[in-house]
This record gives sequence, C-alpha cells and structure tokens, in this order.
Amino acid sequence: MTTDLDQLRTDLLGSIEAAAGLDAVEAVRVQALGKQGVVTGLLKTLGGMSPEARQVEGPRIHALREAVTEALAARKAGLEKAALDARLASETIDMTLPVDGVPAGSVHPVSQVMDELAEIFADLGFAVATGPEIEDDWHNFTALNIPETHPARAMHDTFYFPREEDGSQKYLLRTHTSPVQIRTMVQDKPPIRIIAPGRVYRSDSDATHTPMFHQIEGLVIDKGITLGHLKWTLETFLKAFFERDDIVLRLRPSYFPFTEPSAEVDVGFTWQNGKRVIGGDPRKSDNGGWMEVLGSGMVHRKVIESCGLDPNEWQGFAFGTGVDRLAMLKYGMDDLRAFFDGDLRWLRHYGFSALDIPTLSGGVGA
Ligand code: PHE
Repeated sequence: MTTDLDQLRTDLLGSIEAAAGLDAVEAVRVQALGKQGVVTGLLKTLGGMSPEARQVEGPRIHALREAVTEALAARKAGLEKAALDARLASETIDMTLPVDGVPAGSVHPVSQVMDELAEIFADLGFAVATGPEIEDDWHNFTALNIPETHPARAMHDTFYFPREEDGSQKYLLRTHTSPVQIRTMVQDKPPIRIIAPGRVYRSDSDATHTPMFHQIEGLVIDKGITLGHLKWTLETFLKAFFERDDIVLRLRPSYFPFTEPSAEVDVGFTWQNGKRVIGGDPRKSDNGGWMEVLGSGMVHRKVIESCGLDPNEWQGFAFGTGVDRLAMLKYGMDDLRAFFDGDLRWLRHYGFSALDIPTLSGGVGA
C-alpha cells in the first residue's frame, strides 16, 4: 500500500503538471477525484478497514486527496493566467486611430454649453443637481413664494396635468429649474453650492421662445453670503464662458417672488458686422449696449423657511438663465427653433465633435 500511494501521488501530480490545457486538467480531476476516480476509490476502502489500519491509512489517503486538489487548482490558475497574458499581448488596440466607415455624429450645442457650464462651476466648487421635469405645484410655485393666486403664475403658463379630485392642480411640467433649489435645500444640509441644468416648459412659441427650452440655475446657501458674492460669481462665470476679460455687468433692480432683493443682470456688448458681440463697456462707446442675460437675487427668507432652514442663520443667492440663449450668444445662431428641428445640416454646422476638447479646458481664470 505504502509504495502504491507514493507512486500514485507521483503519477497524479505528474499528469497535473503535464496537463497542457484546462480540458486536460479536468480529465485528471475526474480520473482522481470523480465518482469513479482512484482517490475516491481509496477513500471508499477506509470503511472496510480495521480501526488500526484506518488510523494509519486514513490520514495518508486524505493527504493525497488534498495534495491532488491543491495541485489541480494551482495548475488551473496557472493556465488561466497564461491564457489571459497571451490575450493581452495579442489584442492590443490603438484607441487613437480614427474610426473608419462609421458616420461621425456631433454634440448638440445645448449639450456642449451644458458641459462648459458644468466645468466652469465645478472650478468654482459647485456640484450639479437635477430634479424631475414633471413637478408638483409646491416645488414649482408655492415653496418659491408664488402662492396659488400670485400673478407670477400667469407669466409661467405651462402644461398642466389633470386636476386632482379635490380640484387642486398638483402636477405640471416645470417652468424653471428653481424647484431643484427647493429639493436641494430640503434634502441637504447647508452650505450648498449647486447648479441645476435641465429642460423647462412654458406655453410660448416664436423665434426666440420654444415650448421646451433649457435653463441653468445656480444656488449658494451659506453663512454671511452677500450680493457681492453673487456679482463676483456671475462676473467670473461670464468671463470664463465668453472667454473674454472685458465683460462688464450691470445689475438692474427687478422682481422675482423667490429673491429679495432681485436683479436682472445685463452684460455689455458691441456691434461687429451687424452682430452683437458680448464684451466691452457700453458706457465708454457708442457702438454697443446692454443685453439681459440672467435673473438673480438674494434667496427670499420665505423660501429658506419653506425648506425648513432658519433664515437668520442661512443666507444665499440664486441666479437663472437660458442655456439655449447662452449658446446663441456665444456661437451666433439667431433662431431658437432651429435648435429643436433636428435638421442634420444645422447640426453638422453648429454641432461639436465629441473628440473636441471643450472650450473651457483652460478653466476659470486661465
Ligand atoms: N427661475 C427664474 C425664471 O425662470 C429665474 C431666476 C432664478 C431668477 C433664480 C432669479 C433667481 O424666470
């Protein structure tokens, strides 16, 4: 028995070592440990032995089974690693080669501008927040200090879902991305610094208005936030976005129910070849004027309170603007409707290559 076991061990370990592939390893496993396997057969003999004999043979047979099991696993792992190494060595791909024969799509200017905005605001420490396009009345209006009978609701005429049984109007297509500031303030603890880009809806339609368009809203809630922070943030953002240092801002007193005080933000432009080009100070030249680009203000105490925060502890500012409009101003399109017609000629002309480096890779202040 002794020599038999040693011989068997040498034979089995030898064939495992010699197994050239996973199939061969499996064949040795079946031959040794399968139902009819030799080692399995030896284990079965233990039952018929005298206790003395079993005490001697038991540990030897078990040790053999263990050695074979280990050797099988090691050989299997070795073969698998070799196969992977061979694949890695043979399957090299050059990711920098141009794609052949596949029509190249383009990035829509709205997507491009949203990416640019996310980059600029990321540099300033803002996170991107999102919310649902089907909003409820509370988030879109009431929490933003626009109660049921408020005239501002008429300016935000939108698409309403059927009334509830009690006659209330619960759901609508959001008219601005401001409900995302409510959702964020309700969910997160201040300090908050977010931008909320996304689709919004109003029942409007002409060359500069479409029933669906894109907005981006910014919100900062912290301690001791002032109008100065708002102005600096907007100036820094507009300089980075339009890639010009000579951006001049004018804050014009205005009214929004959710901000107090509120300001419309105008930016100076100059006429060049019959087009308005952002930049320059209209007070110092006859060849330009002011153009409204943003709504903004200090977040109203009532809004902060609606979200369960103490307005004596937390202040902040908010601003909102149209992404499509920013794209038109930066890239020179003049009809908003073309943005959503899906005309391939327009997309080829105004679209961006997916491999283009975003215009903002320089970052803020570069
Ligand atoms: N939500 C406003 C609108 O769509 C824009 C705005 C946002 C104004 C934040 C001020 C502050 O008209």
